Amino acid sequence: MQDFIENIPKAELHVHLEGTLEPELSFRLAQKNAIKMPYTTPEELISAYDFTDLPSFLAIYYAGMDVLRTEQDFYDLTWSYLNKARSQNILYAELFFDPQAHTSRGVEFKTVITGIHHAQRDAEEKLGIKSQLILCFLRDMSAESAMEHLMYAEPYLDWIVGVGLDSDEKDNPPLKFADVFAKAKTFGLKLTMHCDVNQNNTHDHIAQCLDDIQVDRIDHGVNSLEKAALWQTIKTKKLGLTVCPVSNRFVVQSLTSKEIRQMLDNQMLVTINSDDPAYFRAYLNENFIELQSEGDFSESDIITLVTNAFKVAWLPEQEKGFYLDKVQHYVESYSA
Ligand code: ADE
Ligand code: ZN
Repeated sequence: MQDFIENIPKAELHVHLEGTLEPELSFRLAQKNAIKMPYTTPEELISAYDFTDLPSFLAIYYAGMDVLRTEQDFYDLTWSYLNKARSQNILYAELFFDPQAHTSRGVEFKTVITGIHHAQRDAEEKLGIKSQLILCFLRDMSAESAMEHLMYAEPYLDWIVGVGLDSDEKDNPPLKFADVFAKAKTFGLKLTMHCDVNQNNTHDHIAQCLDDIQVDRIDHGVNSLEKAALWQTIKTKKLGLTVCPVSNRFVVQSLTSKEIRQMLDNQMLVTINSDDPAYFRAYLNENFIELQSEGDFSESDIITLVTNAFKVAWLPEQEKGFYLDKVQHYVESYSA
């Protein structure tokens, strides 16, 4: 089963680029940028990854980003992730980035997006992994700041496929950003939002995503299962849910394998993702392997989860077909 998971061609739809910053790269960038690290080794840094919920994770995640200063730093970050992803047989990835977490430290939007884009371009050409970029707004910052960053992005719309909403959900509902997401839609961008697991007012937040914002996808969204009206709408609209098992174990102490099984039983378009793999110490294959083992998922379940990701990817139908054919071909040759 592990071999089957490792080798099946996959898509990843929920990964924060800043959450792929490995301790070794942090140390290298800190040294280059003359930043003093509060730890002496990468191992010591990893042992300080002490999070038990979303806010405690976010504090460590934002502190870690301080080493990212130049266009080359963002290039290196993105290039490293795309190499790792390709080594896990990920053929296509949609990448979140958090520009406000960088502009607030004095790093220009242009610096961030140019470094990322050039690495994406090179990885597609040299490694054969395609990726697209999703600009995430930090929901614990103001709607005005989000709108300002959407306007920074306007000259780069060819480099962005959609917008998302992340960071601390407490008291920051989707509706706070209704105008920003409406404007993003007029730019032709796809819309997604985090509805993290077990957050306050989670059912209201999911309902706002569905009814008011009219998202194209939901990140996490596990609590939709608790209200028939929510999960049935998600199913009817054929919306993808990007679930992140190991991330869930850190923030809610469960891989949510039962919930993922229930989504499959409900024929919802659930997908498996890594979220912040350098922090949670698990990339996409490790997420699948742990989930499979805990939930006793069959090969057929794994195929459905992988196939769902290509089905709900923000790609033209023809390109989805190209990847789905690759999955089918792999499955046929594996069973032969
Ligand atoms: N930013 C990075 N990872 C996140 C997560 N899991 N939830 C909300 N915001 C995030
Ligand atoms: Zn996330």
